Amino acid sequence: MSGSLGKVLVVGSGAREHALALRLLASEGIREVVVTPGNAGTARAPRAMSGKILRNAAGAPLAVAAQERPDLVVIGPEAPLCDGLADEVVRTGLRVFGPSGAAARLEASKAFMKEFAGRHGIPTARAVVVRRPADLDEALSSFSSAPVVKADGLCAGKGVVVAEDHAEAKREALAMLSGERFGRAGQTVVLEERVLGVEASIHAVCDGERWCVLPAAQDHKRIGDGDRGPNTGGMGTYAPTPIVTAELRERIEQTILAPALRGMHAEGTPFKGALFAGIMISPAGEPVLLEFNVRFGDPETEVLMGTTDGDLAAALDAAASGRLAPDALRASSRSAICVVLASEGYPAAPTTGDVIDGLEAAESLEGVSVYHAGTRLDGERVVTAGGRVLAVTASADTLSLAHERAYAAVSRLSFRGMQFRRDIAARVLGKAP
Ligand code: AMP
Ligand code: GLY
Repeated sequence: MSGSLGKVLVVGSGAREHALALRLLASEGIREVVVTPGNAGTARAPRAMSGKILRNAAGAPLAVAAQERPDLVVIGPEAPLCDGLADEVVRTGLRVFGPSGAAARLEASKAFMKEFAGRHGIPTARAVVVRRPADLDEALSSFSSAPVVKADGLCAGKGVVVAEDHAEAKREALAMLSGERFGRAGQTVVLEERVLGVEASIHAVCDGERWCVLPAAQDHKRIGDGDRGPNTGGMGTYAPTPIVTAELRERIEQTILAPALRGMHAEGTPFKGALFAGIMISPAGEPVLLEFNVRFGDPETEVLMGTTDGDLAAALDAAASGRLAPDALRASSRSAICVVLASEGYPAAPTTGDVIDGLEAAESLEGVSVYHAGTRLDGERVVTAGGRVLAVTASADTLSLAHERAYAAVSRLSFRGMQFRRDIAARVLGKAP
């Protein structure tokens, strides 16, 4: 099967793509992984992978795909997926891992997702879709406590406001509906009942009908220790999380993943790609779907790569071709933790261009991978080039040892204004940050 699979093109420039690229490069038969546009980390293969090629290519993804003619294209971020890049790649005769634009509506439109969940009996919080300011008061009055306000479209992770009271919910919803806050993405608003509990990220690699579930991960979305400060793309993760027991995972598969895949198939838009369900586990232990993402999470992917067994290239290729074996990817016995290093000013106004020190020293530690996000090469030096800069990831036989390794690696890295959280996985490890 993997005999015909020698070269893969990965679309994206984050630590997610760096982690995917390295795992793909380690897959059987793979000689070359090209990343577009990539970052300083994806510019060359690590020394330990001598003989294999990892490089970046510049240009529009479709043009790069046409020029490189890879055996498989893997699309990382949501924006190109929602814009239909997977459909365009398929039209050029190439194989692609990633949903069609129609299937990507599960993430592109929260109103679509809520209506879809309703049609297929998937447990989610009660919601009302509002399209006109004139309908807002009546919609708000149907919630006894303040609803969560969500912009319908893609807002780079900023489109959700957990309002404290009805007045705040109204202000936020009006700013969205008027187009002032997020342009067209906010002109439809979803008001949703607030759900209490703990969150988990559940990923499944899907071929349109079958799926492989990956270990459950937990993200840390706020910038500051103790979940304080503004939301970010994600400041750190760990996996597997003991919060999702084997029994709960089974429930999530049966009540959320299975009906979603059946529903998408029945509606004529089968889902092929990584389906990432953001789940709230209620105090009573009930899983409630908060959102679907139509791609691998970032920084979830970084810890999933270290806790999953199986040949990634073969599995994604099988998913892309509709012939995924349910055990193609399996949870390993290892644990992993990822600590994101972000630049000064992130998330509001990140500074860039600062030299990063300590990369080799950090990567020389056992079990440690330093995945690049916002980095670029400046001659021989690696400098910061975005908000989230590095995803320092460690795996080990226990979460506690992975934690020790990851923070040991973090202590070897530095750049001006570097921010990171000291409490990734602290709660589950019973550690004070
Ligand atoms: P989303 O972009 O939909 O994942 O929402 C971002 C974050 O908002 C989630 O990770 C949750 O922390 C929070 N959130 C979203 N929906 C709800 C809800 N119905 N109740 C409570 N918190 C929510
Ligand atoms: N870490 C959350 C996300 O990728 O959306």
